[in-house]
Amino acid sequence: MADGQLGDMARNGLLHTFRLFSPKPSARRVDLSGRRMVVTGASPGSLGYETARTLATWGAAVVVTALDDPAGLEETLRRRLRADAADGDRVTARRLDLRDPGSVADFARWYADEHAELHVLVNNAGILLDPLARWREPQLSPDGLEIHWRTNYLGTFQLTAALLPVLLESGRRGGGARVVNVASHQHSRGRNARLFAPSERYHSWDAYGQSKLALVHLAAELQRRYGGDGFLRAVALHPGSVYTNMVARGIAASPRIAPVRTLAAPLAALFLLNPVQGAQTAIHCATAAEVRGGAYYERCAPAQPSPDALDETAAARLWERSREWLDGLSPKLAP
Ligand SMILES: NC(=O)c1ccc[n+]([C@@H]2O[C@H](COP(=O)([O-])OP(=O)(O)OC[C@H]3O[C@@H](n4cnc5c(N)ncnc54)[C@H](OP(=O)(O)O)[C@@H]3O)[C@@H](O)[C@H]2O)c1
Repeated sequence: MADGQLGDMARNGLLHTFRLFSPKPSARRVDLSGRRMVVTGASPGSLGYETARTLATWGAAVVVTALDDPAGLEETLRRRLRADAADGDRVTARRLDLRDPGSVADFARWYADEHAELHVLVNNAGILLDPLARWREPQLSPDGLEIHWRTNYLGTFQLTAALLPVLLESGRRGGGARVVNVASHQHSRGRNARLFAPSERYHSWDAYGQSKLALVHLAAELQRRYGGDGFLRAVALHPGSVYTNMVARGIAASPRIAPVRTLAAPLAALFLLNPVQGAQTAIHCATAAEVRGGAYYERCAPAQPSPDALDETAAARLWERSREWLDGLSPKLAP
């Protein structure tokens, strides 16, 4: 492991310990009546679920996405909203698999057929499949790309590009539009050099970090390309370290921890934010009037991203590369 990465880990560990004992972030309630939003990856127990639940409770019409069972997710969310005395019908669920260009194109087409407006796209769905970093070789997507890169970044890029026309049009018609990328402080493991050349040795956390660095670049580049007239704001964020399905699956997958899982899970939950707390920064970025387009957020406030994330040349080059990839998709599948 490089010195820089050790430094990042030490800094993150210290910051995490400090934040354990400081007040938790909290978004302020905003009336979202008349606003239409999409939140990707909203399985129960996830950040997306709590983000969507709050946005709908505050009055937005929210489309959430599920990998496998959109009907089940819709029913669960609607039941939960009604239990909270909110309108359950404000939520609709639809299938979306970010690894599959056909699924992304289908979702975008369906959205455009069903809805004339989209005010906020929360790109929340994401994976960390090898939290114990046991893989020596990358796992590949069906189309042959590293799985974290393919899911977290390229799939999100395709979706964002497909929904951009309706976002821009809705933003111009009134109230502005937003793209909110749920990245991670792990974007600091990413390096711009590795965006354009394969790394020598595979490490799943580096792959995850690369995908998150690309999401921070994507927000900044969207802002530079489309935010000039003030109708679109694009931001990236770190939600905090949160006890979600991702973490629970990591604990379950560890042969060392699994025998003490009944202890490990509550202990982890004690030291991490819960999903409601973890969703606050995404909710803030999706709703607060003062949010600055192009910025990076942590704990509901602007924060400093890594030096690599501030490199505008790398962001512009990544955008062009991603567009080439998108243009190379079969025309039948491209949105
Ligand atoms: N938890 C943390 O501490 C933490 C920290 C920093 C950043 N984040 C980021 O926060 C976001 C939400 O993560 P989470 O912690 O809430 O994890 P999670 O509970 O595992 O939720 C991830 C969501 O993404 C969906 N998803 C997975 N693969 C997908 C695909 N190919 N296409 C579409 N959707 C897919 C999942 O669906 P299934 O449930 O059906 O798999 C789930 O709904 C992620 O982007 C993650 O990287 C989390």
